[in-house]
Amino acid sequence: MKIQKVTITATIVLLSLPISVSATDAVNKLLAEYQSEGAGAFSEEAGKALWIQEFTDKKTSKIRQCTACHTDDLRNGGKHVRTGKVIKPLALSVNPERLMDLKKIRKWLKRNCKWTIGRECSSQEKGDILTFIQAQ
Ligand code: HEC
Repeated sequence: MKIQKVTITATIVLLSLPISVSATDAVNKLLAEYQSEGAGAFSEEAGKALWIQEFTDKKTSKIRQCTACHTDDLRNGGKHVRTGKVIKPLALSVNPERLMDLKKIRKWLKRNCKWTIGRECSSQEKGDILTFIQAQ
């Protein structure tokens, strides 16, 4: 139901705007996959809460957050906290190349959840986060 709504919204947005600003096929596939793994409905709010949540690294006791590299506002470019490498904005509204590649999303969610939270994200968390990111 939720996915259907997003698809309809995406279609309307696509028809009314010259640039695409919404759900991607890759995200829709992943959300369906997460639900088949037992996740419930996905929430943008829960995704946002996770995005700004502070986690403490067990070894260094330092705070880790998604925002550390990607900033609070996903429409901004970010910077890798350790390497200083520039990271392009994650928001689809300013960077339509985002969330297009299933393999890339999987790889980075895995890596970034491990680094930030200290474990892999659950299917529910991954779905919430993608729902949040694609709404930016
Ligand atoms: C230590 C720095 C760092 C942190 C912290 C971090 N990321 Fe990233 N993230 C990156 C880098 C580097 C890339 C890959 C380079 C790029 O795509 O610009 C990336 C890419 C991504 C992508 C791929 C998007 C796409 O389709 O191109 C997603 C999704 C993502 N990050 C989500 C998250 C989430 C969610 C968190 C918090 C749990 C997080 N990141 C925390 C550095 C970070």
